[in-house]
Amino acid sequence: MATDVATPKPALDKPLMHYGHRVLDRTAPGSAETEYRILGIRPLTPHIGAEISGVDLSQPIGDDLAEELRQALLEWKVIFFRDQHRFASEHHVALAAVWGEPEVNPFFPKGDTVGVSRLAKDAMAVGNENIWHSDHSFMAAPALGSVLRAVEVPSAGGDTMWADMAVAYDNLSESMKDRIDGLTAVHDWVPSWGAVMTDEQIARFRETLPPVEHPVVVRHPQSGRKVLYVNEPFTTRIVGLSDSESRELLDELVLQARIPEFQVRFHWQPDSVAIWDNIAVQHYAINDYYPQRRVMERIAIAGVPLS
Ligand code: SIN
Repeated sequence: MATDVATPKPALDKPLMHYGHRVLDRTAPGSAETEYRILGIRPLTPHIGAEISGVDLSQPIGDDLAEELRQALLEWKVIFFRDQHRFASEHHVALAAVWGEPEVNPFFPKGDTVGVSRLAKDAMAVGNENIWHSDHSFMAAPALGSVLRAVEVPSAGGDTMWADMAVAYDNLSESMKDRIDGLTAVHDWVPSWGAVMTDEQIARFRETLPPVEHPVVVRHPQSGRKVLYVNEPFTTRIVGLSDSESRELLDELVLQARIPEFQVRFHWQPDSVAIWDNIAVQHYAINDYYPQRRVMERIAIAGVPLS
């Protein structure tokens, strides 16, 4: 399509028909550039995702390295490490501890080490994380982040994608920002995880996991940046709107994660490790490798209530 590339196109009312210029700020405007002394940073896109070199994650993590890792994650929202061949479960636990306490997804099979969940997919256990989501948004204090390690990968495919939801917010039209300002939404695991449970199982999990509410636009706990915080499987309705208004608005908002300029895609190799900021991004595990085997290990990091 021939267009004048110098002229940004205005946002149209249809979210996926907003073409042309995008605002792609990596950090909040005015933030200082960080100088890294230990880490090598190779950006995978201008605003989300960087491959990190200069670190062996099987070695003890000192204070200076921990500080740079936290800063790199805050700035890039998802960071990747390759060839971590000596990275074992105890290193996985130590790496997650750079950010906080491990938090186990209540619905995942347990791994051998406390806090480590093993996600093994094959012809019998089909991958079902191929929907844009934030981990544990159905909890009152959703996970701050996750650390994922590739144990076994298919010969091709099995990539994961992440979408920058601060940038997604920035690119909403001003009228949409005004419309969602101050709204809260209900997050609930029942429509997704509960779909394969008996009524008895649902009732048992419900005792500790009732529906929760979060602002539709949250302030990131560290950067203070505004983040669009609704996701397809777990956000069930917007408080105070009619069912149809809520559905229509949610349908539009959850589509934002699908816009390619907001995303980064990572191709796994055995012993690749990714860490993501679970408040700033959503992710999507591409399920194109069936019936091959793909085995990942994950630790989520406990979060704080969002505002
Ligand atoms: C997840 O949704 O946490 C799993 C991501 C992946 O397996 O790539």
